[in-house]
Amino acid sequence: MDELTITRPDDWHLHLRDADALEAVIADTAARFGRAIVMPNLKPPVTSVADALAYRERILAALAARVGEGPGADFQPLMTLYLTGQTSTADIEAVAASSGKVVAVKLYPAGATTNSEAGVTALDPLDEVFTAMARCGVPLLVHGESTDPSVDVFDRESSFIAGSLDRLRERHAALKIVLEHITTAEAVAWVREAGPNTAATITAHHLLHNRNAIFQGGLRSDFYCLPVLKRERHRQALVSAATSGDPRFFLGTDSAPHPRSAKHSACGCAGIYTAHAAIELYAEVFEEAGALDRLEGFASHHGPDFYGLPRNAGTLTLTRSAWTVAEALPFGGEVLTPLRAGEQVRWKISVS
Ligand code: NCD
Ligand code: ZN
Repeated sequence: MDELTITRPDDWHLHLRDADALEAVIADTAARFGRAIVMPNLKPPVTSVADALAYRERILAALAARVGEGPGADFQPLMTLYLTGQTSTADIEAVAASSGKVVAVKLYPAGATTNSEAGVTALDPLDEVFTAMARCGVPLLVHGESTDPSVDVFDRESSFIAGSLDRLRERHAALKIVLEHITTAEAVAWVREAGPNTAATITAHHLLHNRNAIFQGGLRSDFYCLPVLKRERHRQALVSAATSGDPRFFLGTDSAPHPRSAKHSACGCAGIYTAHAAIELYAEVFEEAGALDRLEGFASHHGPDFYGLPRNAGTLTLTRSAWTVAEALPFGGEVLTPLRAGEQVRWKISVS
């Protein structure tokens, strides 16, 4: 197969940042995806519907500035609220009343990742909030990692599932939960054993790479993200979940841009930028697995079906044609290093 046309895909987990950084990255996502779930981990975090709607306006302004009337002009940001110990049932009702502009709430265990300091330290005190979310049909998006410093970095996802998520799902069976950017066979199993209210996003980088990438010939901070890449058997479990056709697994890039200076430093920060070639990279994974015919379900159908949204009307065509990724991309007065910098990607896109 040298050409594949699919329903226009969506990105169900994306970091767009703000201000100049937002302007620098927005066109990459809009060129490929009809919609994206925009993560709320700004500084300060997006904790109210008013904050989320204001952020949405900034995204639409950046889109107009960068894309104009061109392809991707109809891109729609789907906003999320950052869950804190102060989130109330009134906040959830405001989400439900936002006419589809704010669609979900994101749970960051405090300290688990970039800008998560204001996150949640205990789940039980938020019981009423979770009940309100279930009642209003608002999904909970979870960064599923333990923050206990004594837990091995590579075990933090499985530890959080066993230590917190099992109990949350038992207490709130009607709550829609998306375990974000899953990285382990345990997470795949946790989704598979559940009913239709549990789902997971999977990134391109966790499908393409195992943890050896971080140590290939030296310490490579460009491959450092959270949750951190895992061993090969876990990568294989993710590929098998993504390509299985199971509607509870769908595309979420977790494209997370950082300036190169912040990545290439003595304490490099977590996040991999993939928005410049996102669907193309997934196509490589699905081709390798002999499952290109399942890419459309994973990228374009399962996500909107889970969120209760219509599938996109347009299409995207992937053509087998190699191109070389830039060594660096402009990033608000700095540069960022995109995944595959200076190397080839095997597929090209066009949208209609
Ligand atoms: C994300 C970021 O930089 O905002 N980083 C990452 O490594 N994925 C935060 C996150 O999703 O954990
Ligand atoms: Zn993320």
